[in-house]
Amino acid sequence: MNIALTDEQKMLRKMVRDFAKTEVEPFVEQMEKGVFPRAILNKMAELGLMGIPVPNKYDGADLDFTSYMIVIHELAKVSATLAVILSVHTSVGTYPILSFGTETQKEKYVKKLARGEHLGAFCLTEPGSGSDAASMKTKAVKKGQFYVLNGSKMFITNGGEADTYIVFARTGEEKASTSISAFIIEKDTPGLIIGKDEHKMGLNGSRTVQLIFEDAQVPIENLLGHEGEGFKIAMANLDGGRIGIAAQALGIAEAALEKAVQYAAERRQFGKPISAQQGISFKLADMATNVEAAKLLVYQAAWLKDQGMPCGKQAAMAKLFASKTAMDVTTEAIQVFGGYGYTKDYPVERYFRDAKVCEIYEGTSEIQRIVISKYLLRER
Ligand code: CAA
Repeated sequence: MNIALTDEQKMLRKMVRDFAKTEVEPFVEQMEKGVFPRAILNKMAELGLMGIPVPNKYDGADLDFTSYMIVIHELAKVSATLAVILSVHTSVGTYPILSFGTETQKEKYVKKLARGEHLGAFCLTEPGSGSDAASMKTKAVKKGQFYVLNGSKMFITNGGEADTYIVFARTGEEKASTSISAFIIEKDTPGLIIGKDEHKMGLNGSRTVQLIFEDAQVPIENLLGHEGEGFKIAMANLDGGRIGIAAQALGIAEAALEKAVQYAAERRQFGKPISAQQGISFKLADMATNVEAAKLLVYQAAWLKDQGMPCGKQAAMAKLFASKTAMDVTTEAIQVFGGYGYTKDYPVERYFRDAKVCEIYEGTSEIQRIVISKYLLRER
């Protein structure tokens, strides 16, 4: 395994760091008030950041998956909101069409997504089916030139802002994962209703909504892959998606660590910096060690994906470990800041609120353990 960054990747990292500092950071307060960062996404589109791993042929930047992870990681250090919008747009909003779409679908949808003219979303979860994704109830019935969809989807990141939705629905009677199909659904589809906005603990600038399908008419040419292939499409793309969420968690943890080190070096109690107290310096050492381990797992999973090698197990491990690290490190960062950490005057409370969902979306930590253990038993 070689996870040393190339000169190009280092240049990309510098460019995104500068962008995050000059363009994103001044907008964080607005996002915290619930403003969707449309203007920033437009600037990211100009920089080619909305289609990083998409081939030139489909108007993407044609960079590798590792480069894409660098961007998520760097953005998350400043804004986890922006990182998740980009991760969902790319990993599970664009990749499914790139990997399973027809040439016509790629021409029609991937190009606009990669140019950032369109935003993508992914609709798997339902009110009654979260971790048990295969138990979904949304139905798609073929009628002439359309599939007619009825049902609802829940916790849809980018919902209400996205132009295309990758939607999973049951096309067969049996309750098996093999009767689920995937569709590309445009925002103006008759019968697609944007439901209520969720008021979340964190990621305040990202939109999360319910979607309702009431006899929504989807042209048959918008079936993605074959009928019955939907569950595999969802799972295969979630492998990449989970590396993206792991990179987001890593960025949050690293930001919290940086702030904690800086504060501990400056804050004085008992006549010396608190960093000179072992109770604090040991905390910092443990935080840094976990951040480093998370980084290795994230970049290892990305490297495997770049080699075209199986990465499902390592993606699940990266997400499991990086999201736990984000929770642990942000909790300890608040502790280092003491009372100040509990206020909105410092960013560590935001990091803590943003970190929690990394242990939940794109498969909870418990689901990651199921995935990892399935691989272990299969490899035996
Ligand atoms: N790639 C390709 N195919 C896969 C796969 C993968 N990674 N994982 C499973 N499959 C295939 C299996 O091979 C199997 O096919 P065969 O029967 O032909 O072998 C089929 O899918 C069913 O697999 P399982 O029997 O393992 O399925 P299961 O019902 O036991 O579920 C699960 C497995 C891992 C628990 C799965 O349901 C799961 O991942 N749940 C979590 C759901 C999730 O991650 N939701 C996230 C929502 S999106 C989101 O959060 C976005 C956001 O907003 C940020």
